[in-house]
Amino acid sequence: MIELRSLTKRYGSFTAVNAVDLDVPRGELFGFLGPNGAGKTTTLRMIAGILRPSSGSIRIANIDIAADPVAAKQKLGFIPDRPFIYEKLTGVEFLRFVAGLYGQSGDEVERRGRELLALFDLEEWRDELVESYSHGMRQKLIISSAFVHKPEVIVVDEPMVGLDPKAARTLKDLFREYTRRGHTIMMSTHTLEVAQTLCDRIAIIQRGVIRACGTMDDLRASAESGVSGLEDIFLRLTGEGLARELVEVLNA
Ligand SMILES: Nc1ncnc2c1ncn2[C@@H]1O[C@H](COP(=O)(O)OP(=O)(O)O)[C@@H](O)[C@H]1O
Ligand SMILES: [Mg+2]
Repeated sequence: MIELRSLTKRYGSFTAVNAVDLDVPRGELFGFLGPNGAGKTTTLRMIAGILRPSSGSIRIANIDIAADPVAAKQKLGFIPDRPFIYEKLTGVEFLRFVAGLYGQSGDEVERRGRELLALFDLEEWRDELVESYSHGMRQKLIISSAFVHKPEVIVVDEPMVGLDPKAARTLKDLFREYTRRGHTIMMSTHTLEVAQTLCDRIAIIQRGVIRACGTMDDLRASAESGVSGLEDIFLRLTGEGLARELVEVLNA
């Protein structure tokens, strides 16, 4: 459902995403894991059609997004890391608005909107303006908006940041159920635990390059023996990647 071929993004002379090849089949919950600055957001923004690649190609549900961006975007829901949200709409109006962008309206959309708001404990707030929402409530509304038009593919950038434990749990259950029903989700995270417990397969990206990709078992096999947790694997595969970051933080 998501096919990346030699996907590359340069900012001036700096290569943020470097010849990434990736295939995410239908029904998979795919984790995109890497330290800060690895190129996760840049990759996801290119998949969502917000950022133009320097080179390479992207296909969503067999549609080349450069050739037919509107058709490709119809298949897609995107939850950005720093979402924009209209303050002067109520929760339920915002969901209607997003569904409308995808050409959907009517009973089905109303029902899905109600169900999503209930799922995230936003029922009581459905007719309140978004400007009165807390950070976590806004995030839950944004997440709901990616599901309201029932896209085949959802791309999510760091969805767990800022959610309380209950909402995080709801999100995990929703992602699992959505992929079980044959939809496809690609989510970035810098949290090893999230990737390890939630995702069917994981790609580890570092400095714009995919270092490893596969199931937890695959990743265990490609790391040296004697490691089992994703943290160990991550550290083995990325060399001193995280340790170097830690040193930078401590020295700052
Ligand atoms: N608009 C931009 N201009 C220049 N450099 C950028 C821009 N956006 C991101 N970068 C750089 O690209 C690299 C990857 O960033 P990003 O994709 O946001 O990483 P991640 O989401 O994995 O933390 C970082 O080094 C970042 O500083
Ligand atoms: Mg990011």
